[in-house]
Amino acid sequence: MTLEPRRPLSDVPHDALAYAPTTAELRPHKLYEVQYWRERSSTYLDGTTFGYSTAPLTQAQLRALPSATYHAIVGAVAGGLAGERVAFECSAALCAFAPDDNARMFLATQVIDEARHVEVFTHRLKSLGCEDVDRTLHKYVNPRMFAFHAHMRARVVDSRDFVGGVIGQNLALEGLALGFFEFNAALLEDIDPGTSQMLKTVLLDERRHVGFGLMRLRGLLENQPNKRAYVEDVVGELSNEMMAIFEENADNMARHGVDPAVPMEKVRAYHAMHLGRLGMN
Ligand SMILES: [Fe+2]
Ligand SMILES: [Fe+2]
Repeated sequence: MTLEPRRPLSDVPHDALAYAPTTAELRPHKLYEVQYWRERSSTYLDGTTFGYSTAPLTQAQLRALPSATYHAIVGAVAGGLAGERVAFECSAALCAFAPDDNARMFLATQVIDEARHVEVFTHRLKSLGCEDVDRTLHKYVNPRMFAFHAHMRARVVDSRDFVGGVIGQNLALEGLALGFFEFNAALLEDIDPGTSQMLKTVLLDERRHVGFGLMRLRGLLENQPNKRAYVEDVVGELSNEMMAIFEENADNMARHGVDPAVPMEKVRAYHAMHLGRLGMN
């Protein structure tokens, strides 16, 4: 069953919104199994609390370190949380109007992953003394990220653009976030191993989410070539939006004394690799 879009975005062709996968796109895959999700995530979540088995540094312990370290940790967690809130809302909406049970099954697991990510990042911010989470996000996170959230809400929740939602969420947002999480997990490995471990568990979930996006988009491009122009347009638009966010974020990192060259290299490398897998570079 394909739900009709409610209110098409003016720039989205109607037939792109009423997306129906072909049989070829729906081959069985482990990502569509709740059992696989449980087995896989238990390898790194069992025995952890809020994603860590070593307690992260307390605010008091961080006082002994340069204040730039504190701001770098709060900045990394706040940036992560802003993105997780987008993914939490969008994955739930995409799950509700997914065009097939396979996508719905995967997205149901993603909704729980994103709920966990929102929970662990919120918990970490509060443990760092940032009780007013919204205020912290607005202090540390680029305003473009909130604009991206509003854009995705319009595209997914209001317009039910499934393909655009998967591109924005599973390719642009999560694909580029892999580099961000990977860098911060490595940066904090020695300074704050608990927070680093928490980021690594999120990263492992995110790899699954990006895997789903790439698999579905590749299937779509191979089996519905008439959709290619639309997919390429949306990939270009949303990836540019996300890249601009990461570039401004890099300026912020530099202000807090962290060299942004390596994370930006990682972000760009992931993006190029994902476009390559879609035959779009
Ligand atoms: Fe997430
Ligand atoms: Fe995710």
